[in-house]
Amino acid sequence: MKKQQLGPCITFFPQPTTLISTLGEDGRCNLMTASWGGIVSKTPPTFGLSLHHGRETYANIRRSGEFVVNMVPANLAVEADYCGLKSGRDVDKAAVAGLAQEPAQLVAPPLLVSSPLCLECRYLQEVELGDYRLVIGEILQVHAAAEAIDPSGKLDAAGFNPLVYLGGIREYWSLGEKVATAYQDGKKYIP
Ligand SMILES: Cc1cc2nc3c(=O)[nH]c(=O)nc-3n(C[C@H](O)[C@H](O)[C@H](O)COP(=O)(O)O)c2cc1C
Repeated sequence: MKKQQLGPCITFFPQPTTLISTLGEDGRCNLMTASWGGIVSKTPPTFGLSLHHGRETYANIRRSGEFVVNMVPANLAVEADYCGLKSGRDVDKAAVAGLAQEPAQLVAPPLLVSSPLCLECRYLQEVELGDYRLVIGEILQVHAAAEAIDPSGKLDAAGFNPLVYLGGIREYWSLGEKVATAYQDGKKYIP
């Protein structure tokens, strides 16, 4: 493919859409949309999340040391977009968007009832990247919706229906078709 150079910039890149639950100083839950995040290690299980230092969410995580990563399903695209447009400093986003919560097991910030996959995390460390802080949290517990687990115990992608954020072009998409099985189909090239 012939390439065009775009220079150093952030551009089109598919990422997950998550809603991060934290607790404000007043004990109220704040929900922030975040796409610059993902699993970053297996042993221990950790989640990395890049936050602008001015976010209410960042202040809440530094104060409490806890957060919950709620995976956003495709049917909540509009609600998630709203939670990325307003700060919890100014408005109760969960109340406005009608996003109900339920208690987590090990941390104080709640789980989103309508999220099929929620990760309870405890702050471990961070890396300063200019205006951003790459926050790394240890995953303490994972809650998966029963509807997204098949009878053999395998998590089902269609059941989760994750909302994909295409940064750079600012669009939300849902998943397409399964195209291959990981750690398996590539073996075709191993003699
Ligand atoms: C799709 C989308 C993804 C976003 N991802 C991030 C992100 O990963 N990190 C970040 O700092 N802000 C991100 N934002 C912006 C914040 O969600 C936004 O500034 C929000 O108002 C901050 O809320 P808070 O002050 O209540 O924490 C994103 C916004 C949208 C719409």
